[in-house]
Amino acid sequence: MNRLKDKIVVITGGSGLLGRDIIKSINIAGGKCINLDIQQDTPDAENFFYCDVTSESSVKAVIELIVSKFGRIDGLVNNAYPRTGDWGTRFEEISYTSWQQNIDWQLNSYFMLTQKVAKQMISQKSGSIVTMSSIYGMVGPDFTVYEGTGMTMPTAYSAIKGGLINFTRYIASYLGPHNIRANCVSPGGIFDNQNPIFVKNYEAKVPMRRMGLPDDISPVVVFLLSDDAKYLTGQNLAVDGGWTCI
Ligand SMILES: NC(=O)c1ccc[n+]([C@@H]2O[C@H](COP(=O)([O-])OP(=O)(O)OC[C@H]3O[C@@H](n4cnc5c(N)ncnc54)[C@H](O)[C@@H]3O)[C@@H](O)[C@H]2O)c1
Repeated sequence: MNRLKDKIVVITGGSGLLGRDIIKSINIAGGKCINLDIQQDTPDAENFFYCDVTSESSVKAVIELIVSKFGRIDGLVNNAYPRTGDWGTRFEEISYTSWQQNIDWQLNSYFMLTQKVAKQMISQKSGSIVTMSSIYGMVGPDFTVYEGTGMTMPTAYSAIKGGLINFTRYIASYLGPHNIRANCVSPGGIFDNQNPIFVKNYEAKVPMRRMGLPDDISPVVVFLLSDDAKYLTGQNLAVDGGWTCI
């Protein structure tokens, strides 16, 4: 309790599956969580700001507004998940344009927003940045779990999430002298009423024999934002029921 007392934390994509639970956990821990999203799906309208993370002008305006309103940004959770309509197309059929668009929206936008928030954190001489990666930024997909489902793992996801893990190491090293920490959380598959065949296949492979839930992930994000992790930086914590240990 109160691990994040009075801390101002910005989350992107806080209206989604994981974001909603992360916001709840940050608020329970005593922090003030500000949600930047293109859709408002949280009851806390006061702490919602419309922001398209893929637009530099939108990000610039909202970060300036937050700093003028709250005076500081103690934590950032990079969590938004913009993707194209054809996300999930099989490898052979992905157009180059679609590949480029997803890299721009999901990797380049994370750099752009992180850079703007980090400038504020440098001026404060403190901050904690948590970036959502994935098990698929760490290992290749096991395509057998998609058999019989019509589902697949998007190719760009591996490049994006793997890139974010090493981007995090870079900024941890670069920003460490400014007392700013940067870490990744890499969730395994989160249950979201997917095709039951996929769920069965996934559960049979993962050592803990179940898919993840949002509340498996949120406490780890809160921990990384908090001073309990004050000497922890440049790391990637896989929260995956053991998926990446085998
Ligand atoms: N759900 C999983 O199984 C899982 C597993 C591993 C990693 N992750 C990662 O966790 C993060 C959150 O995933 P999720 O499942 O909650 O996703 P989600 O799709 O449920 O939510 C994503 C949120 O991002 C917002 N968003 C989309 N485009 C945006 C934009 N241009 N600007 C601002 N906000 C935008 C959406 O409105 C939505 O609220 C993602 O980075 C994802 O890659 C998810």
